[in-house]
Amino acid sequence: MAINLWKNFKQIVTLQGVVAKDGRKLNASDLSIIPDGAVIFSDEKILWVGSSANVPSAFEITSTQTFSEHVLLPEIIDSHTHLVFGGDRSHEYAQRLNGVDYQEIAKQGGGINHTVSETNQLSNEDLFDLADRRVQKMSEYGIGTLEIKTGYSLNIEGEIRLCKIIQQLKNKYSPRLRIFCTLMAAHAIPHQYSDSSSYIDKVALPVLELMAHASLIDFVDIFHERGYFNDHDLKKIAAMSSALGIPLKMHADEFNDNCGAFLAAQLHAISADHLLKISSAGMQSLAQSKTVATLLPGTGLFLGKGLANARALLDAGAKVALASDFNPGSCHYDNLVMLASMAAPSYKMNLAELWAGITYNAAAALGLSTSGAITVGFLPRFSMFKINSFEHITYEWGKNYFVQDVRY
Ligand code: NIG
Ligand code: FE
Repeated sequence: MAINLWKNFKQIVTLQGVVAKDGRKLNASDLSIIPDGAVIFSDEKILWVGSSANVPSAFEITSTQTFSEHVLLPEIIDSHTHLVFGGDRSHEYAQRLNGVDYQEIAKQGGGINHTVSETNQLSNEDLFDLADRRVQKMSEYGIGTLEIKTGYSLNIEGEIRLCKIIQQLKNKYSPRLRIFCTLMAAHAIPHQYSDSSSYIDKVALPVLELMAHASLIDFVDIFHERGYFNDHDLKKIAAMSSALGIPLKMHADEFNDNCGAFLAAQLHAISADHLLKISSAGMQSLAQSKTVATLLPGTGLFLGKGLANARALLDAGAKVALASDFNPGSCHYDNLVMLASMAAPSYKMNLAELWAGITYNAAAALGLSTSGAITVGFLPRFSMFKINSFEHITYEWGKNYFVQDVRY
């Protein structure tokens, strides 16, 4: 068995304090930084981490590498993207700057349904190539695990096609990148359906059953929002997902307080995402549950709808993750590290909260219990930056110090 020693890092940011508190109520010291750090790991797991001066002799090291100009952090995880899509919505961005709201644009026939028609016109090859290039680019920022949602086809065959494209991406990038597929057939109501309920019955539920049996999906998601899908639709999706053993995610309380956070906690959703309009009662529900509160700062900024009340959620004791929401309509931006850096001052997050948000807590939003920290027994999945101090990663907006292709 190969046993690797990496040593002399300027810092190893282990997040061991974050693990000890299970990602909640974090202080900056929970980053648990080891100066002049070293780590020993096999292909399967981390075996030891500590100071380079104290490397134990008990391990039969088969390879040693020195990284005296680098900082080591856990792998960065983007737990919410919609990156399989065709076309673009630049005209909608321009419309919004002229004063037309996102929901108004959708009512006029734009929005998600616009992307649906552009996506459905593309060949499998073209759609795969577009998504492939987007995944490749995200990996260059240090993202090692990412979730991708379907939801830009909105018919049974088309949603199956999107799941298969995501499966192709999984196959291409594994094990360097871990990719998770979320079925989000309940993303918008196509024009030919009179109401959400008939679309749920005719498309969203049948495709969920098919894709779960084909083992092509890891999660199911629903846009629980006025004008999209209501409590009744949510409960149908939740009942079937629970019967099929597919964890539920929710787009919750994005534009209105729809009691989405409360429902997410009640339905044991693995995450409730967006939460721009979450109420204090919703915050309490999440804080008392295992449901991860995933904030998507890029979306509020891109749409001009402000930012979620991160500080109140964190203070309530919620487990908060950050993700990009990369998609053509509400956040056409893919760099999670940059988004987290730009949002943190307004969110009033300390650096442990920021890094937990894109590592340990993001892992929880994907059901990964041994990812997102550098500690014994966790997976050896890291992000390495050629920089003197980890603080520079978030301080130097627009720069990318991530080191790719470190072989072991
Ligand atoms: O997460 N809210 C719903 N879905 C996406 C928007 C998708 C789109 O506008 O194309 C979101 O913001
Ligand atoms: Fe989204």
